[in-house]
Amino acid sequence: MSIKLSSGKEIPVEMHKARMVQKISLIPIDERLRAMGEAGYNTFLLRTKDIFLDMLTDSGVNAMSDNQFAAMMNTDDAYAGSMTFYEFASAVEDVMGYKHVMNTHQGRAAEHLLAKVFIKPGDVVPTNYHFTTTRAHIELAGALVLEIYYDDALKTESANPFKGNMDPQKLKNMIKKYGKDKVAFVRMEATTNLIGGQPFSMKNLKEIRQICNENRLIMVLDGSLICENAYLIRQREKEYENKTVAQIVKEMCSIPDVFYMSGRKNTCVRGGMIGTNNKELFDKIRPWLPVYEGFYTYGGMSQREVGAMAVGVREMVDPSVAGCSVEQIKYFVNRLVETGIPVVTPPGGLACHLDAMKFLPHVPQQQYPAGALAAALYITSGIRSMERGTISVDRDKEGKEIMADVELTRIALPRRVYTVSHIEYASDRINWLYRHRNLVKGLKFVFEPPVLRFFDGRLEPIGNWGKDLLEAFKKELGNY
Ligand code: F0G
Repeated sequence: MSIKLSSGKEIPVEMHKARMVQKISLIPIDERLRAMGEAGYNTFLLRTKDIFLDMLTDSGVNAMSDNQFAAMMNTDDAYAGSMTFYEFASAVEDVMGYKHVMNTHQGRAAEHLLAKVFIKPGDVVPTNYHFTTTRAHIELAGALVLEIYYDDALKTESANPFKGNMDPQKLKNMIKKYGKDKVAFVRMEATTNLIGGQPFSMKNLKEIRQICNENRLIMVLDGSLICENAYLIRQREKEYENKTVAQIVKEMCSIPDVFYMSGRKNTCVRGGMIGTNNKELFDKIRPWLPVYEGFYTYGGMSQREVGAMAVGVREMVDPSVAGCSVEQIKYFVNRLVETGIPVVTPPGGLACHLDAMKFLPHVPQQQYPAGALAAALYITSGIRSMERGTISVDRDKEGKEIMADVELTRIALPRRVYTVSHIEYASDRINWLYRHRNLVKGLKFVFEPPVLRFFDGRLEPIGNWGKDLLEAFKKELGNY
């Protein structure tokens, strides 16, 4: 939650206390430069021993609660019919209202099953914005992703509270253009990941539902970040200011035909799920679960994680969980805005996103400014962030580069992991880097995998600029 100090300043206050900790260390900048080189200027390839603040992602790295750990010790490991699964199913029914549920080993496994069951080659999938793995599964199944956002969704600096909305008129036009038989399903993503963690409004979700009804289309909700979206609806949508996050989540869940999520985010475990009240659709997906994931009562997850997820589903709608990263992100983004750093506004529900094209205007998009900025940030601070720009988009079938709509360097805030002093350190080093931004140049690939290249690709700095950055840093700040 956010608390106003007597000075008038607002700070995010952690509504939990640390009872178990993990030591982290900050290695000197010479070693950071070496580590970045060894990792091919790709932050995914760093090793955690070399990382101070791991802000790569909020996925699978959140702090679990004491009750979640307790649940892990008390699970039923049966291959079939495990009571732990039924505890999970009853939490899902209570919190989300779904009568039919299955686990998957993580979110992309749910995407794989949905793509397999609902997509035929030549189909289209309209979405408010794709996620990397979603797009890969949709395209592997032979369909085309149609991004249907409002024009200002890609404006990084904005006051629009709901940049994650889908444009209903554009959706209608697309349905007309491709024909409704070609629409495999309409996908809404909560707190739209790749455009800066931006939420949609409940009003928009209902409008899109209406269009799906009129055209008899299946609506799928990717709720990997549903609680942050709900928390932001409560703060930004007048009609919902007096509702609880739990009520808003339940209402959101009542709208789509099929819901799926990565459990690695909101529920703070390592897993995923698909939920629905449509038995017919559920029965189409269910036979494939044991083929690709595991038996119906574990779906590829360890039962310990299923047990922790049962608790996580109940805890995720607590405002102190749903809002913990939202409030930290708001603080972080505002600290950077105060000092003129180009950052995605309004603050979203996933991370603080630097606008790399504005941060490094001298680096052409072909030279991956968001990847260069992520590498430079690591060298100057030991903070691991993630490229969310052109490197995160694979080439087209002809091998041509597809330029990303936005070049973002994402600095994620895992839930209940970092504190305000960590954010203060990050803001300071980002400021230092901004003042020395001219030293940072572009990157080029030296090894490029054919699919999801951002994970394993290796790059090289154009002009060995890492060394220039190191020298400037050492002159002013020493080794750390
Ligand atoms: N959908 C969304 C909106 C996501 O953010 C993610 C994962 C997935 C699906 C896939 O889920 O990782 O459990 O297989 N996002 C992570 C991230 C990887 O870092 O933002 P998964």
